[in-house]
Amino acid sequence: MVQLPLGSWMSAAVLDFVPGRQRAARTLVGVGLVAALPAAAVGWTDWAELRRPQMRVGLVHAASNAVGVAFYGVSFAARARGRFARGRLWGLAGLAAVSVGGAVGGHMAFRQASGANHAEHVAELVGDGWHPLGDLADFPVGAPARGRLGDVSVVVVRESSGTVRVLADRCSHMGGPLSEGEVAEGCIRCPWHGSTFRLSDGWNTAGPATAAQPAFTTRITGTLIEARLQHLSDKVPPTAAASGEGNGW
Ligand code: FES
Repeated sequence: MVQLPLGSWMSAAVLDFVPGRQRAARTLVGVGLVAALPAAAVGWTDWAELRRPQMRVGLVHAASNAVGVAFYGVSFAARARGRFARGRLWGLAGLAAVSVGGAVGGHMAFRQASGANHAEHVAELVGDGWHPLGDLADFPVGAPARGRLGDVSVVVVRESSGTVRVLADRCSHMGGPLSEGEVAEGCIRCPWHGSTFRLSDGWNTAGPATAAQPAFTTRITGTLIEARLQHLSDKVPPTAAASGEGNGW
């Protein structure tokens, strides 16, 4: 959402230094102002789901951008009155303000992991192939329990039908323990902020998580449960589930 206002304003700054392009630059400043409204709305929505330290930095991010939008508003008004030199100066001031906002936004994304997928590393740690998870008797029926696949914590749900479901335990939203969550209607609900993931394939059916949870296919050998990381191709053919290998046993 921020690409359009920032791209418009940066392009306007370039055109400000090209003779005879004042009207084009004014149009781009106006496009940026209009496009900033939905970007701000999305930003506030994201902000509402952050943790308190992230929220504090988010306010600085929002304030910088608000100052930038105000400067661009003055710039547009000046340009509309034909005062292009003045409009250019206000535009440069606006670009400086939104650049500060962008730098603060980068800090939120890369240092504070705002909106990051906290389960992205699971595929790297688990690797391909089948991995032993434990004995059937280690896991209660109908309640989530924590298990381990190598270095990765997983949540295991033995359904009354006999199906064993396995997802990565750390919630993709902010790392909450799904094994302490609630199971209902084929899904598990994170205890921290309520994200809901489908047990069969990890799909996030309700936010605030924006990424699916890594999911595992299971098989039973004797009483030993083994699990294998699902790939996209595992989610496709319904006939595979009926063949015996898959989540059912
Ligand atoms: S950690 Fe936020 S919903 Fe799970």
